[in-house]
Amino acid sequence: MKSLKVLFVMLTVSAFTLALVSFVPGKPWEVPKEYKTMKNPVKAGDEAIKAGKAKYSTTCKSCHGPKGLGDGPKSKTLKTPSGDFSVDLKGQADGELFYKTKTGRGDMPAYDKKVTDEDIWSIVHYLRTFAK
Ligand code: HEC
Repeated sequence: MKSLKVLFVMLTVSAFTLALVSFVPGKPWEVPKEYKTMKNPVKAGDEAIKAGKAKYSTTCKSCHGPKGLGDGPKSKTLKTPSGDFSVDLKGQADGELFYKTKTGRGDMPAYDKKVTDEDIWSIVHYLRTFAK
């Protein structure tokens, strides 16, 4: 009887752990310290947002969607959700978004060779407009 109880507790614990692990939305994405403290060299303002929007529309919108909700037409073909920029970017430094865009991960392409640094920084300004 006692071993049955132990087994029950063990089963409950493992089921709980499994549930917890599968509900964590995406693995943490480690960003090197030097990026976290980087200042955005592109001046914030209408001009940067306009440039960022233009580049975003041709390069990022297909997955991330027109409002950054991760609902672009291409998102349906991906194994990983592309996230919701309106909430996910809160608390992240510009340099973190810059790093993630440059290096990519899994379904997220690396843009270090396809988009100039200046354009990525402008896109980062534009991404901020999605915040709720
Ligand atoms: C082919 C689809 C696709 C395209 C195109 C794409 N992304 Fe992504 N992006 C993703 C996916 C999927 C993730 C989630 C990756 C992960 O968490 O492993 C992601 C994650 C991100 C993140 C991290 C968000 C967070 O929560 O920290 C940023 C920033 C980002 N993308 C920016 C961009 C920018 C900027 C562009 C255009 C230059 C772009 N992406 C183009 C699929 C895409």
